[in-house]
Amino acid sequence: MFEFLPPRVRLQGEPHAGEREARQIAEDFERFRDGLPRPLEAYVHSAYGLDLASTYGGWSVKNPFGKGSGQLSLALHQVSKDAEAGLGFTVLKTLIAEDSSGAQAMHEWAIPETRMSVERIRGKSGKEGWTVTWKGRGWFDTFAAYCDLFTRSLEAARPAGMLVAPSVKYHLPTPAESFWKEDEYRFTTARLVEVWRGQNLSPPMPLEKDFSPTLAGSARASEEAKVLEWLETVPGLVHSAAPRQVSLGLKLFNTLFEDEFQLRMLNRVISASPGANRADFLIYANRLYDPDKVFDGHQGVAYGGPDLSDRNLAVLERFLDTGKPSSLPLSATGDICSGRVAAEYLLRGVSSFQMHTVFQLPDGEYAMRAGSKTEKVLHLLLFHPREGFIAWLLDLRRRFGWRAGANVGQIAAWCREHWNTIREAFET
Ligand SMILES: Cc1cc2nc3c(=O)[nH]c(=O)nc-3n(C[C@H](O)[C@H](O)[C@H](O)COP(=O)(O)O)c2cc1C
Repeated sequence: MFEFLPPRVRLQGEPHAGEREARQIAEDFERFRDGLPRPLEAYVHSAYGLDLASTYGGWSVKNPFGKGSGQLSLALHQVSKDAEAGLGFTVLKTLIAEDSSGAQAMHEWAIPETRMSVERIRGKSGKEGWTVTWKGRGWFDTFAAYCDLFTRSLEAARPAGMLVAPSVKYHLPTPAESFWKEDEYRFTTARLVEVWRGQNLSPPMPLEKDFSPTLAGSARASEEAKVLEWLETVPGLVHSAAPRQVSLGLKLFNTLFEDEFQLRMLNRVISASPGANRADFLIYANRLYDPDKVFDGHQGVAYGGPDLSDRNLAVLERFLDTGKPSSLPLSATGDICSGRVAAEYLLRGVSSFQMHTVFQLPDGEYAMRAGSKTEKVLHLLLFHPREGFIAWLLDLRRRFGWRAGANVGQIAAWCREHWNTIREAFET
């Protein structure tokens, strides 16, 4: 495996939130072990003067914390619990696209769910974290069942103001193929838009295109030029399937190529000319891939943990160093198991955080005594005195003089524009 450079801008040591605020955070962390304050955002605003409102893609979300597509967003009860717990958004399990005859070019990704194993993992930096190992892939039930899940999820999420987005894996040609199965793009996109409109939601519908880590190990992604062609072609195909009805986010993957190539991918997406051939937002970046690791008799698995956040943060940092800040909204995924790591992504201009692994930790890893796993995660991510988002936001607000009324989305935009100031502050 290749080596990658560690990120330079990291939040080290203890946050310096201010004496009174640090006391309040410690009290709240204890007090809320039996239940989160409601409404959560109003409490955080009145107690700390922090506005958690942000954006996912182009949409307003009440807070920046969401669930990444996967095994934890493939059933209605999961979505309902997340809405109740207070997540800002959720992305449904990835659907494998089909054409009007029901054929799926990417059918090898539509395999049944398998055993998941949650394990500790040590990063190259020596930092300990968590990873989930499994060999399952995309949605395995029918397209009709997915549309039903999407419909009911939108209904269940609406009262809580939680955004729900579908995720799709469409046909991507192999290096040997020169054609695109456009019917898959047309048929699948149009049907999902119908669901969205059926709920009287105004266009556009948010939609993630999943370039998954298992692609990294497949022959499809063995040629850099082909991967760049995918990134260039997919937005036009999705947009022309439903003109002005879809806002498309590309969920980029960590390839087996060097970091330079990750930068080229980002550059290719961001520098596309505005219009139908350009994506509307980016999700950076899905898990790493180990072609040698064997799990349940299957060779080659995706993994996460500290190496994932290290690589993602380093690549985003290098991208910002080029002086071309992303003009597309950024959502982050990858080892967001603490508010500290979320704040590190925020410093790179990211306005929303989508997690998977942190919802799967053993019970003993959470501090809350009551509530659902999602509530326990929010408690940890927000209120932890040393690792929490509130403590780090207050610390960073003091360092950079962010105005008191700025919300998380506005702070992300500030960070994107002032990357040089941020980098210099961490170099001294
Ligand atoms: C068991 C499992 C299943 C996943 N399934 C999908 C999926 O279907 N589509 C997708 O875009 N990402 C999928 N992911 C990736 C997650 O959404 C997330 O981006 C990634 O795990 C990094 O976040 P984390 O470090 O918080 O886990 C999956 C991850 C795991 C662990």
